[in-house]
Amino acid sequence: MTAAVPVAVAALLAAGGPAAGPVGTPGASARPAPAGSAPAGSASAGAPGAGDPYFPLAGNGGYHVSHYDLTLRYDPDSRHLDGTAVLTARATQRLTRFDLDLKGLDVTGVLVDHVKAAHRRDGQELVVTPRAALRAGHRFQVTVTYSGTPEPVTDPDGSPDGWIPTDDGAFVAGEPQGAMTWFPANNHPLDKASYDFTITVPQGRTAVANGVFLGSRTAHARTTYRWRQTEPMAAYLATATVGKFHIEQYTTRDGIEVYNAVDPREAADAAPVLKQLPSVLRWESRLFGPYPFRAAGSIVDHAPDVGYALETQTRPVYDSAPDLSTLVHESAHQWFGDSVSLTRWQDIWLNEGFATYAEWLYAEQHGGPGAQHEFDALYARPASDGLWAFPPGDPGSGQHIFAAPVYARGAMTLHELRRAVGDPAFFRILRAWASDHRDGHGTTAQFTALAERVSGKDLDTLFRTWLHTPGKPARP
Ligand code: ARG
Ligand code: ZN
Repeated sequence: MTAAVPVAVAALLAAGGPAAGPVGTPGASARPAPAGSAPAGSASAGAPGAGDPYFPLAGNGGYHVSHYDLTLRYDPDSRHLDGTAVLTARATQRLTRFDLDLKGLDVTGVLVDHVKAAHRRDGQELVVTPRAALRAGHRFQVTVTYSGTPEPVTDPDGSPDGWIPTDDGAFVAGEPQGAMTWFPANNHPLDKASYDFTITVPQGRTAVANGVFLGSRTAHARTTYRWRQTEPMAAYLATATVGKFHIEQYTTRDGIEVYNAVDPREAADAAPVLKQLPSVLRWESRLFGPYPFRAAGSIVDHAPDVGYALETQTRPVYDSAPDLSTLVHESAHQWFGDSVSLTRWQDIWLNEGFATYAEWLYAEQHGGPGAQHEFDALYARPASDGLWAFPPGDPGSGQHIFAAPVYARGAMTLHELRRAVGDPAFFRILRAWASDHRDGHGTTAQFTALAERVSGKDLDTLFRTWLHTPGKPARP
C-alpha cells in the first residue's frame, strides 16, 4: 500500500465522508459524525474533531495536512516558547472556516495562503476563518505565529502530556493529546504528515526532534537545531525535547542514521542499553520486516515527574535510563504504532499489545523466560484482577487506553493467535501487517481479517474471546 492511499482515506474519514477503498473498514466508517460541529447556516465549516469518541475534539474535519514546518525558540529559564508553524494542507470539502488544535499560548497572527485570516480561540480549538472560502481540493498554507508558556495537559489517566518542563529544558511527548500544547495541529493519528523542525535554544542546550539531524548553528549565545522527518508521522509522535545532553551520532551497518541524546545524570545507566539499539533494531527487522524509517536513536532525559517513555517517531524519549525491555518495547512501536498508525484510539492494543509481545519475544530468543511463561504467569491472576477489567479491543474510554488489559491482555491475545496458527504463519502475519500498512493506518478488524487470510483459519472465536469479551477468558 502506498502512503497516498491511507492518507486520502484518512481525509475522507476526517471529513465524515464514505470510507470506501482499501483501508475503509466497518470500525472506522461506523464512527459517529463529530458532535456539535457547525452552527446552523455554516455547512461548510470544518468539524472541530476527527470523530473519535474517546477524544471528541482531537483532530479536525475538512482538510488534511501533508507537512508541518515548525520554527520554535525556547528559553528554559523563563519557560517562554515562541513559535511559527507553517502547515501545508488540502481541503477535503469547501471550507468557510476550519479548526486547528492548540491549547494555551497566545496566537499573534494567522495567515491562509499569505493573506491575514480571522481567528479566535475556543477551548483547545483555534478557529480560523480565511478571507475567502477554500474550495474542496484546494491546497493551502496556514501560518500561525504564537508564543507563551506551554503547559502540559493532564491525561484522563493522570499522566502529564505535552510540553513538560524539566530542570534544564523540556521533555516533549504527546500521546494521546499533548501535541496541541506546543504547536497547532490536526491532532489525531488519522492525519499523518512530514515535518521540518528549526529549534533555537540557549547555547549549551540541545533541541532534539524526530528524523534526520540536518545540522546546527550557534550565534549570539543561541544554537539552532534543524531536523527533518520525511516519513509521515502522527502529531502525537512529534518531539522537540530540550536539555543538556551528551550526543552520540553514527550510522548503523544497515544504513540507519542514529542520534542519541543522553542527560549526563542518566549516562552511566543508559550506556549499556543504548549500545544494544542497533542489534535490537536488526533483531526486530528480522521478525517484523525492514525498519520503516531512515533515522533512529534515543532521547534519555532526566524527568522524574513524567513516569513513562514514549515511542516518539524514529527516536523514543525516555524519562530516565531505560532497561533493555523498555528499549525493545519503544523500538517495536516504530513498526506497530508509528509506521502503522491507529485510526481510532479504541484500537490502542494494536500499539501496546504488539510492543509488549515484542518484549516477550525478545526475552524468549535471548535466554530469558518464554512468551508462554509470561502468558501463564498473567493467566494465573484471579478473575478479580485489574488485568481482566475490560477486554483490550474495547477499553471503553480514553481513561483506560494505557491500562494493563491493553498491554498485557493485548500481548496475551497475540500469544493465543501464535499458538493457534503456529510460528511460521504468526510471523508472516506480523510482517504482512507492517508492510501492508507501512506509513499508513490499520484497524482491529483489518488485523483479524489479515490473520485469517494468512493462516487460512477461522479465528473468530479466539479474537471474540480475547479482544472483545469482558472478564477472564476460560482456560485456553
Ligand atoms: N505509548 C507509551 C508506551 O507504552 C505510553 C504513553 C503513556 N502516556 C500517557 N499519557 N499515559 O510506551
Ligand atoms: Zn507502548
